[in-house]
Amino acid sequence: MTRRKLIAGNWKMNGDAAALAELDGIAAAAKAAPRVDVAIAVPATLIAPAHARVPGLSIGAEDIHAADKGAHTGCVSAAMVKEAGASFTIVGHSERRADQHETDADVRGKAEAARRNGIAAILCVGETLEQRDAGHAEAVVTAQIAGSLPEGAAADWLSIAYEPVWAIGTGRTPTVGDVAAMHGAIRAKLRALIGGEADKMRLLYGGSVTPDNATELLGASDVDGALVGGASLTAAKFVPIIEAAAKL
Ligand code: 13P
Repeated sequence: MTRRKLIAGNWKMNGDAAALAELDGIAAAAKAAPRVDVAIAVPATLIAPAHARVPGLSIGAEDIHAADKGAHTGCVSAAMVKEAGASFTIVGHSERRADQHETDADVRGKAEAARRNGIAAILCVGETLEQRDAGHAEAVVTAQIAGSLPEGAAADWLSIAYEPVWAIGTGRTPTVGDVAAMHGAIRAKLRALIGGEADKMRLLYGGSVTPDNATELLGASDVDGALVGGASLTAAKFVPIIEAAAKL
């Protein structure tokens, strides 16, 4: 089964109007790599100007609310980010699971809101260092998959990102063997839950992906792309990751 590689950026709470200039080089690299899908999730305030600046590049949200509208001060809905130009959203990032106490059920509801409103979703899972050291990494991650996988999960709108919490923003990464083993475990869990659709679904790795390690990580079995934080903030760092995927 060949799956198109997806290289997605996540700007987190970074970026401003001036930073949008970085998208020009990223969009050009995406155009030059037709075999690779490229996407960037930006802060909600930047979705509309990012989409206006590079309409050919897939711009996304970093989070949405599970409800379509209502009394949820400070939140944005799937329909709102879609209207602003987002074609996808991240859900269940570990920073939101930790900082906003989001549960698997919350994440599932957000993913279902994305589907209901016709945007794609990247659903994040990942263990903490304590959980890995205790030998529980696969159990934790597969339980997150079981708990947060939305109704109607299908490869044409949903991808999974494995992001070990201890690898995010730390410069540390698991070994390629550990990544492959975890992605294999995620694939097996997905097969048990959604059957053959699991083989079409893209599994991204995230956590300290850089131009230096991208080729190795993207080449691991069952790794169908990357979710990139820090290195997605500049074209200088993100473009070589796109190029590495294009060469595989
Ligand atoms: P870094 O690439 O900065 O480690 O962040 C990874 C991440 O959390 C992407 O969602």
